[in-house]
Amino acid sequence: MQNNNEINKLKEMVYDQVLDEVGLGHFYRFIMPEEVLVGPGCARKVGKEAAELGKTALLVTDRGIIDLHLHNSIIRSLEKEDIEIKIFDQVQSDPDDKIIKNGVKFAEENNVNFIIGLGGGSSLDAAKAISFMINNPLPISQYEGSNKIKNKGLPLIAITTTAGTGSEVSASTVVTDSSKNKKMVISSKYLVPQIAVIDAKLTVGLPASITAATGIDVLVHVLEAYLSKDSMTISRALADHSIKYVMENLAQAVGNGNDIEARHRMCIASLMAGMAFSNVGLGACHATAHQLGTTYKIPHGVANAIMLPSVLRFNKMVSKKEIAELAHVVGARTEGLTTREAAEAVINEIELLISELNLPQTIREIGGKKENFKSMAEDALNDPTLSTNPRQANLEEIITIYENAF
Ligand SMILES: [Fe+2]
Repeated sequence: MQNNNEINKLKEMVYDQVLDEVGLGHFYRFIMPEEVLVGPGCARKVGKEAAELGKTALLVTDRGIIDLHLHNSIIRSLEKEDIEIKIFDQVQSDPDDKIIKNGVKFAEENNVNFIIGLGGGSSLDAAKAISFMINNPLPISQYEGSNKIKNKGLPLIAITTTAGTGSEVSASTVVTDSSKNKKMVISSKYLVPQIAVIDAKLTVGLPASITAATGIDVLVHVLEAYLSKDSMTISRALADHSIKYVMENLAQAVGNGNDIEARHRMCIASLMAGMAFSNVGLGACHATAHQLGTTYKIPHGVANAIMLPSVLRFNKMVSKKEIAELAHVVGARTEGLTTREAAEAVINEIELLISELNLPQTIREIGGKKENFKSMAEDALNDPTLSTNPRQANLEEIITIYENAF
């Protein structure tokens, strides 16, 4: 006769089987910052939030931010709470392990209690890397990949000055390995900032071309999260609203950089996109755009803008229903259309936005050469972002994606 334990085990197995059959057999994990401050001017309030984190802060940023005095209101707010600020402003775009090592040394010499990252993706990624490396041994390369960080880092406040990367809410950082000239993606729950600060006022001075490129990056984050193999209800809900905000506000923010309402909505779109993709991954647009960006030294958002229509048309074969469902948020007319035609109408609408922003739309326009496609496709196949693309792609298919974007 079976004992109670065995009977309970059998019951659990049957129950799990039933859950699998009704599509509820998967478990989800959704990671977010403990606190998100949102609203034009909210960076001025950061001192109050920071007061409980300690008396000495390390501000990680770049010279451009200091020259524009974007840090002034934040410093004043911290000083009001008697917080001492040490500034590390050596961050450069695509920060490498040497910069991180210098930042860690500077933080240790000054006995800081917590870290504030201020800037675009590079400054926030550097702040995240410095924060965790203070409590984990060198070299940083041993943490490349997922969940390899053993110890929690110093508390981190991430204040974004662009509406694009989503780094302020994501669980990853990108650091260049200087010995191999290769980007390392490090992912861990310990990289999610405690506090994310989304203040559209800090984005007002961004030039139109950067606003356009970072805005398209937001759109790609959210589209890839929406179509991801790992997508879930929470991420799809975030994606829905984020796509709508980009489609309605990006051209406005590019055309009139002082439009604080459009800037604010782009910041919200970026925040929601960051939360979505950070939890469910990206796809073939990022995988192919990463190689295009590295090969031709073009900004990440520009590379995404070039690759997006070609990748969406590739994914349409398996995701036409999901793409067609976006008609209401992108503003595409689909009355009387088949699902296939509706999906194409959505992609056309996205292409129209990219052309309105005056971003390059083809690899030819940036001086790209077809002879590089094979090696770029080989690297794209190994890009970790490809793993959540809804349609599996082989080498030949990725070459075709590049050819269609040529
Ligand atoms: Fe991106």
